[in-house]
Amino acid sequence: TPLDTIIRGGTIVTASDTSRADIGIKGGRIVMIGEDLGPDLYDAPEVIDATGLIVVPGGIDSHVHISQPGEPGVVIADDFESGTRAAIFGGLTTVLPFCLQAKGQSLREAVTWYHGLAEGNCYCDVSFHLIVTDPTPQALGQDLPALVADGYASIKLFMTYEGMKLSDRDILRTLEAAKTSGALAMVHAENDDMIEFLRDGAEARGETAPKYHATTRPIPAEREATHRAIALAEVIGTPIVVVHVSNRDAMEEIRAGRARGSVVYGETCPQYLVLTADDMDRTGFDGAKYVCSPPPRDTAQQAACWEGLMTGVFDLYSSDHCPYRFEDEQGKKRPAGVKSFRYVPNGIPGVETSLPILFSEGVSKGRIDLNRFVALTSTNHAKLYGLYPQKGTIAVGSDADLVLWDPAETRTIRQDDLHHGADYTPYEGFQVTGWPVRTILRGKTVMADGALRADKGVGRYQGRTPHHRAAAP
Ligand code: URP
Ligand code: ZN
Ligand code: ZN
Ligand code: ZN
Repeated sequence: TPLDTIIRGGTIVTASDTSRADIGIKGGRIVMIGEDLGPDLYDAPEVIDATGLIVVPGGIDSHVHISQPGEPGVVIADDFESGTRAAIFGGLTTVLPFCLQAKGQSLREAVTWYHGLAEGNCYCDVSFHLIVTDPTPQALGQDLPALVADGYASIKLFMTYEGMKLSDRDILRTLEAAKTSGALAMVHAENDDMIEFLRDGAEARGETAPKYHATTRPIPAEREATHRAIALAEVIGTPIVVVHVSNRDAMEEIRAGRARGSVVYGETCPQYLVLTADDMDRTGFDGAKYVCSPPPRDTAQQAACWEGLMTGVFDLYSSDHCPYRFEDEQGKKRPAGVKSFRYVPNGIPGVETSLPILFSEGVSKGRIDLNRFVALTSTNHAKLYGLYPQKGTIAVGSDADLVLWDPAETRTIRQDDLHHGADYTPYEGFQVTGWPVRTILRGKTVMADGALRADKGVGRYQGRTPHHRAAAP
């Protein structure tokens, strides 16, 4: 037969077009898109009926934390098996987790170790960003260029967190190496001295409840660091991605940088669209379930982030999935007996609920159209991080990474229904309209109607070409 699979009767949506068409798949790739690829013309052993459904390119989440080592005594709740399993249930076919360089470790050692964790355990495709914490001459001069040449085309730098944060001078050195080697740099922008100062003050006053996580990481700390990150990148003359942007002031810094001619990309996340700092102000220690950085703000800042998604301040929508267990002394409640927001590991789970939240609050409520949804959840990630056009679109020759959405299906998000390793979801009880009902990875159905349809190991590692060296899309 000329085809392995035909997807019939759906509405195909890409970042630019919407059309009623059928898709022919062979060897894991899309080989035909046409009207009525019926059995009289094309025979295929598998025919998937997509009548009434929306067919989009598989979601790409370019910001997830899986098996990332934390401080001593802190254990992240997802490994590659559970993290990528949750991803395919959430309409994703590719995730980009972070490979953390420990202090004193070479970048290459970190990558080799992280591959060992992923190998044979993934339900979707994966590709690694490198977190640079120890920018030695060896790391920047030898390892980074060699790794970029091997397809590790992006790095993340931190301006906060003890043990991870880089000085401005080290950020400059690292951005220069990124420019030379062709890596794209993501920046976590918060002013760490401001945070430390505010945190010491809060603790001295006995303010240790989870809600003080938000008051000690205020908008000025994010705004100032965003400004500084953009200025540092301007000095080097290299693009940056400002990740997990939570508020209008930081958005204005991105706009201002662009107006000066800098190439600055922006990312926001579901927590900044539907959670607020008030979520951290709950009885007992429950507010810890919402502790992430930057913290969710208020409803005015949620509206600002929506505006950023609509107007293009944000090119990327990612989950920043960083799961910890709540009923676990190695998670949100650690360490035993000491209850201060200072010790709550930063990060919340969200890889499985991220796209349904954007679909429902964005598309179903009329804030963004389906094409923008696809751009924000797939195409832009693929283009920016170097996976396009193999991934990120529905085109002849592209990987048959496809997700079928039922725009009419209404759900209530419940921890009991999720597949991640965390023991709670910050979105418990949240109602959504629109749900991913089938996930197809390189032509193979891996999830259908809420059931796992593949074995772990079906996901593959994907190397990437640095974005500005890739052929212009
Ligand atoms: O609180 C967060 N976002 N934790 C994940 C790590 C990071 O900074 O992205
Ligand atoms: Zn971060
Ligand atoms: Zn400024
Ligand atoms: Zn993150």
